[in-house]
Amino acid sequence: MKKMNIGLIGAGFMAKAHSIAYAGMPMFFWPAPAIPVKKTIVDINEEIARDSADKLAFKTYSTDWRAIIEDPEIDIVDICTPNNIHAEIAIAAAKAGKHIICEKPLALTSTQARDMYLAAKENKVTTMVAFNYRKTPAVQLAKKYITEGAIGRILDFHGTYLQDWSADPNSPLSWRFQKSICGSGALGDIGTHVVDMLRFLVGDFDSVNARTATYIPERPTQSGLSDSLGNIKSSSNTPKKPVDVDDQCCFMVQCKNGAFGTIEATRNAWGRNNFITFEIHGTEGTIYFNYERRDELQVCFAKDNDDRRGFRTVYTGPSHPYGSSLWPIPALGIGYTETKIIETYDFFKAIMENRQPEPNFKDGYAIELISDAVLESAQTQQWTKIKEIS
Ligand SMILES: NC(=O)c1ccc[n+]([C@@H]2O[C@H](COP(=O)([O-])OP(=O)(O)OC[C@H]3O[C@@H](n4cnc5c(N)ncnc54)[C@H](O)[C@@H]3O)[C@@H](O)[C@H]2O)c1
Repeated sequence: MKKMNIGLIGAGFMAKAHSIAYAGMPMFFWPAPAIPVKKTIVDINEEIARDSADKLAFKTYSTDWRAIIEDPEIDIVDICTPNNIHAEIAIAAAKAGKHIICEKPLALTSTQARDMYLAAKENKVTTMVAFNYRKTPAVQLAKKYITEGAIGRILDFHGTYLQDWSADPNSPLSWRFQKSICGSGALGDIGTHVVDMLRFLVGDFDSVNARTATYIPERPTQSGLSDSLGNIKSSSNTPKKPVDVDDQCCFMVQCKNGAFGTIEATRNAWGRNNFITFEIHGTEGTIYFNYERRDELQVCFAKDNDDRRGFRTVYTGPSHPYGSSLWPIPALGIGYTETKIIETYDFFKAIMENRQPEPNFKDGYAIELISDAVLESAQTQQWTKIKEIS
């Protein structure tokens, strides 16, 4: 069976998730499209790079991402760095003819995202942007129901991504709160996941009307580039610096097909951990999903008799999308890892079939155009049309 060598850049949270997925993908999806081989891991911090090679089972490590681009044996470049260097690495990887999986959001701006998309297109490489939540089997089941017309024409929808890991003003000023490194705050970091899911489920967005806020305007400085996601609190005398991105955003969405929706992303929702939800109302029914109960899809079908109409819970299992390759009975437990394993499978399959998987760099670029429109609308306080892919 064909083997494909991976070079992974940025050895933090996502490196762990992707590394588990490389190991796990053939165990679930057999015969695998190709076998991932973890060849080189890179981190700018040498101690982290060395440690990660052992922990995540890579053959070698480096502190310079160019080592991966220049290595002719590397087939796939996996970008798990903070957002500010996604574009530079991806463009170099595309020019070197490597296939690319890049963490989300794709870039700092839609201009950068466009350059990445065009570089990949010109060099005919396969790309994926790692919006893994849409790979949750229950989300894929929602897509199946919608495509089959089970809830009719979509009227409106509501999406949320609510977290509280940084609701404490003493959680440090990591790269996620610095515009030059992250691009935008709650919008780019978590809001884009909901945008990706709803764009996938409902259709293309046409325009947005947004409001953003920064409730915690300064945070204690931190050393080092890795983000501890609120697990380290600073003392009260640590010097503080300004936050220059949103920590909450809320926007209305008008879709091209007439559907209307609202999306909220916040890092200040105490008690909410990874509260990714959507509710979609159609002429023939409703679908509700909450990632904190990700084995379940709640559905109500209008055509059911009056005496039994109501929400039912479908537990995803072997009869549902990707289910025959996952676990043998419903409700054994789909986790974050499974979403990353499915993502890896889709990416490898697309490489072997010489086509683009979804979501790819074109989707990542489309989502950057939406983010730009949200930020513009928050400034002008006007409905803002989303620019077309060009
Ligand atoms: N799909 C998801 O669910 C999800 C979840 C979290 C993060 N992310 C995305 O993944 C990316 C990484 O986030 P994370 O949480 O893993 O970050 P992290 O802070 O845990 O790790 C980032 C690592 O990159 C290293 N790094 C920084 N600059 C580098 C450079 N120039 N060369 C090599 N290494 C460098 C840092 O030292 C750090 O170890 C971001 O784009 C983020 O938005 C996605």
